[in-house]
Amino acid sequence: MTDSVFLMVNGERREVHAAPGKPLLTVLRNDLGLNGPKFGCGLGECGACTVLLDGKAARSCVVRVETAAACASVVTLEGLSSDGSDPVQKAFIKAQAAQCGYCLNGMVMTVKAFLDAVPDPDEAALKEALRYNLCRCGTHVEIMKAACIAAG
Ligand code: FES
Repeated sequence: MTDSVFLMVNGERREVHAAPGKPLLTVLRNDLGLNGPKFGCGLGECGACTVLLDGKAARSCVVRVETAAACASVVTLEGLSSDGSDPVQKAFIKAQAAQCGYCLNGMVMTVKAFLDAVPDPDEAALKEALRYNLCRCGTHVEIMKAACIAAG
């Protein structure tokens, strides 16, 4: 059985029909066609699915759709900018941080949330913020470089 659920996603009010408990990641990708958030582990452990819920980084694979509906805003990678002009996205492009690129959605969204909360962090703080975002290719050096560029 599905319920009608309203979400404020990337500044637009969207209606979806979802069973209670359905993961937000599934709703974003399968119902709303937003493929920025990636499915990695599905267990809240890798960070590939990270979105912003009321400005805070959240792992959408373990957020229930009704929890997201109670938030004032859900922002996915697509909501940062449509053309890569967001400063954090630009930093990741400048640093050529991607190898396969699968983890980068989560890296970008995590850095975005962190810099919004801590505008002038040192490298150690950035490293700590990204500690639980996993990259299987091992491009952590480039990812850190991107985070440092984004931090200014
Ligand atoms: Fe959500 Fe890994 S897919 S944390």
